[in-house]
Amino acid sequence: MTADGCPTLCHPEHGQSCHDSGGAWAEAQQLHVSGCDLPHRLLRGDHVRLLEVGAAPGWNLAAAYFMARGLPGQLHVTALERAPEALDAGLEMATASEWRAAAPFGAPDCLEAIHGGLRAARASDHLGQWVEITPNFRLRLFIAEASEVVAALDVDEQFDAVFLDAFSPSVDPASWSPAFLRDLTARVAPEGRLTTFTVSQGVRSALLAGGLEVGCAGARSGRSGGTWASRGGWVPPLNKRLHAKLKRRSERQQASRGLGEGCL
Ligand SMILES: C[S@@+](CC[C@H](N)C(=O)[O-])C[C@H]1O[C@@H](n2cnc3c(N)ncnc32)[C@H](O)[C@@H]1O
Repeated sequence: MTADGCPTLCHPEHGQSCHDSGGAWAEAQQLHVSGCDLPHRLLRGDHVRLLEVGAAPGWNLAAAYFMARGLPGQLHVTALERAPEALDAGLEMATASEWRAAAPFGAPDCLEAIHGGLRAARASDHLGQWVEITPNFRLRLFIAEASEVVAALDVDEQFDAVFLDAFSPSVDPASWSPAFLRDLTARVAPEGRLTTFTVSQGVRSALLAGGLEVGCAGARSGRSGGTWASRGGWVPPLNKRLHAKLKRRSERQQASRGLGEGCL
């Protein structure tokens, strides 16, 4: 259980939790939904294309749905999840009733709506197909390695918002390989944004190498950590020394691209 009353999952082998112990709902809203500027874009009536890397158990998408359901914009979500068992565990977690009464307003309902969408999107004849949850919110699900899905999308397909939420580089470095981060950043549209909990210098420099502006995450209930990145928009600046160090590292990454992929 996280501190804002929302339950989460832990990986059965390395034990890492899917969310900040300070609050799954707070993390979803403050790090990802705000970091990708969804409130502003959806209020303006934009059509926002959102990609999530690592979708189960579904809190980030629930928080995005919470925001979208009262606003005029369209939110079209591409959800990537490699572990069907994590989707199952998320559904099971949500059906337990004891946490609901103490959870933040809207969180249980929105998680339920997202799980309904994921369940429908998961039916074999729907995998990868759009499923409409409301007239302004649709979702498609791919159950596969994110790197494979991203590489297989139409060449011109881009996203206005990317929630990058695999387990951390320390326990799952393969999910943060320079090759994947290069392909992923190439999918970030002009003015598009990417959010992630990690402050890994390897990840940040790979985002810089992909042409994104990279900064700290904004305020999150007094917690620190996280990265916001953008192709052209403002992000809270890193300190100058750190930025210069990451820039040098990103230049080395760019230079080594022709020589094969390194490690983060
Ligand atoms: C930190 S949890 C995600 C939490 C989720 N975003 C939420 O809001 O509830 C990480 C999830 O990402 C999935 N995942 C990790 N690496 C992945 C990859 N390379 N491709 C697809 N899914 C991945 C894991 O199976 C796990 O379910």
